[in-house]
Amino acid sequence: MKTRFTDEWIEEVRSASDLVDVIGDTVPLKKAGANYKGCCPFHHEKTPSFMVSPEKGIYKCFGCGEGGDVIAFVMKTQNMNFVEALEYLASRVNIAIPEQSDEVDPDQKVKKRLYELNREAAIFYYRNLKNAREAYAYFRKRSLSIETIKTFGLGFSSDEWQEVKEAMLKKGFTEEEMMQAGLLSKSEKTGRTYDRFRGRMMFPIQDIRGRMIGFGGRVLDKGEPKYLNSPETKIFNKRFNLYALHLAKKDARREGLILVEGYMDVIALHQVGITTAVASLGTALTKEQAHLIKRYTDQVYICYDSDSAGQKATERAIQVLLDAQMEPRIILLGTAKDPDEWIQRDGVESFQQAIKTATYFVDYQLARIQSKYTVKDDEQRVLCIRELTQYVQGLKDRTTREIYAEHLARDFQVPKGLFLGRAADVPRAKQREPAIHKEALVLKGNSRSLIQEFLMMIHEKPELFGELKIPPMVVAFIGSGFDGYASELFPLLSEGMVQEPEEIADYFAERFEKEREMLYTSKTGFSGEISLKVLTDYIKKIHLQYYRGLKKDREGLLQSIPMRDDEMRKMIILEIQEIMRKMNDLGTM
Ligand code: CTP
Ligand code: MN
Repeated sequence: MKTRFTDEWIEEVRSASDLVDVIGDTVPLKKAGANYKGCCPFHHEKTPSFMVSPEKGIYKCFGCGEGGDVIAFVMKTQNMNFVEALEYLASRVNIAIPEQSDEVDPDQKVKKRLYELNREAAIFYYRNLKNAREAYAYFRKRSLSIETIKTFGLGFSSDEWQEVKEAMLKKGFTEEEMMQAGLLSKSEKTGRTYDRFRGRMMFPIQDIRGRMIGFGGRVLDKGEPKYLNSPETKIFNKRFNLYALHLAKKDARREGLILVEGYMDVIALHQVGITTAVASLGTALTKEQAHLIKRYTDQVYICYDSDSAGQKATERAIQVLLDAQMEPRIILLGTAKDPDEWIQRDGVESFQQAIKTATYFVDYQLARIQSKYTVKDDEQRVLCIRELTQYVQGLKDRTTREIYAEHLARDFQVPKGLFLGRAADVPRAKQREPAIHKEALVLKGNSRSLIQEFLMMIHEKPELFGELKIPPMVVAFIGSGFDGYASELFPLLSEGMVQEPEEIADYFAERFEKEREMLYTSKTGFSGEISLKVLTDYIKKIHLQYYRGLKKDREGLLQSIPMRDDEMRKMIILEIQEIMRKMNDLGTM
């Protein structure tokens, strides 16, 4: 057998592959001294006995005995043979893979033909542009220079059904090959094939080595779909490629990469000399694309469209990049719709300035959280602080957490420890026991009548009480004059001890006469049909009233505690947060 890979080449791939990084893709690892530890992917376990030694370049499970080097790991976890595992690892670290002889990979021959076919097709579309005045005018309208059209190999597919097909047949390619390259589509009815791209501006897509792998086709002006892309083929896999990376990679190490949404954005940026722009191919950024990026740089700038879809995509991209151990910055577009529009409108210097002042992802995400709340309102303020706290606590790096907690503490005038999820560093002796009493809260008039009406209805339909999804809390009845009665009545009702109105009177006999008297003689009351829904609404309102009062009370308390008494303040703020969470729950039930 001919050997395609030399021992030196294999060793190069092995040593260039970071074992912790490769394993970390599938197994969450924690550092343990010089080693890393995790739960073994080869057998089921809850306590980690799977060890990775970056120093020795091996992994070993002390539970099931499985072990080996980076190549073995890939073979076992990804179900690959030795050659496939090596190819996978080599491309992961950007080591050129020696050409394969045809006997080893029968696909290789086919693939080579498809690259050639796509190249010929791209040339065809490019030449076609000269004859298509309308298309040419459109390119110019979008300010594309001849130079740019050439660099990106832009072209045009005429509104014809057999044009590319005939041209490529003449070049010696078969219909079968054109189908495999995704240049043709097939009619389900007649079985006839026809050009997939018609009347579209053509964007050839190249892989990092510059091979033609597919096309994006945009309608001229309006029409649906706006973009038609090549289907997934033997050589075109959207997940694994980025538009224009073959051009951007040379400056990437020095300048980082700018991730944009559209082909047109990439082109507009390159045209003005910002040659580090790339785009994913009509899909959200993938893990594979992040790994591809990481081979060239760790510095990624995200500059997606400013609409809400773009903002969502930004959030997702941040996460994908963080998962690949990159910390992105965000270029904010302001009023521009996309980078293309920005360049056309404000020019290149302004964009370059924006790159320099791009927002670190933490600032971006904190600002996004804060923009959801109106911070002047106390209730919103607490909710906002809570979400920020959660975010800060989720940050991986301790220094980052500390620094941002500090910023936020200053902005919100609350202790820093709040954002870190621990008590601030107050000396032990100064800490006090929390002095929070559940004192009776005097209810307002309208709340009292709510309670009265609720009880009147319960007197009429006691059988509904047990069905209430929200069990009434006696504490919410304090201050109404009915709390004592309620505290005895409710358990009876929920246990179904009384079902009929008369049974209530019988049960209590001479006790709580005054309360029942008030309920029977009261003039006010709910006049409609008493249903479970009505009762539930009443209970919600009663509980809300109670929480509102409680919250006010705690806020008053907070005001009276000096700033330096961190610990105490934190407890109260936590309690307020809890109250608000409950209020929120009631509102959304
Ligand atoms: N896209 C796609 N299919 C669509 C729409 C969009 O594949 N039907 C992908 C393309 O890669 C496109 C990117 O999503 O480049 C961004 O879409 P959009 O902003 O609409 O396109 P632009 O390239 O910015 O085009 P233009 O500026 O001409 O509107
Ligand atoms: Mn756009």
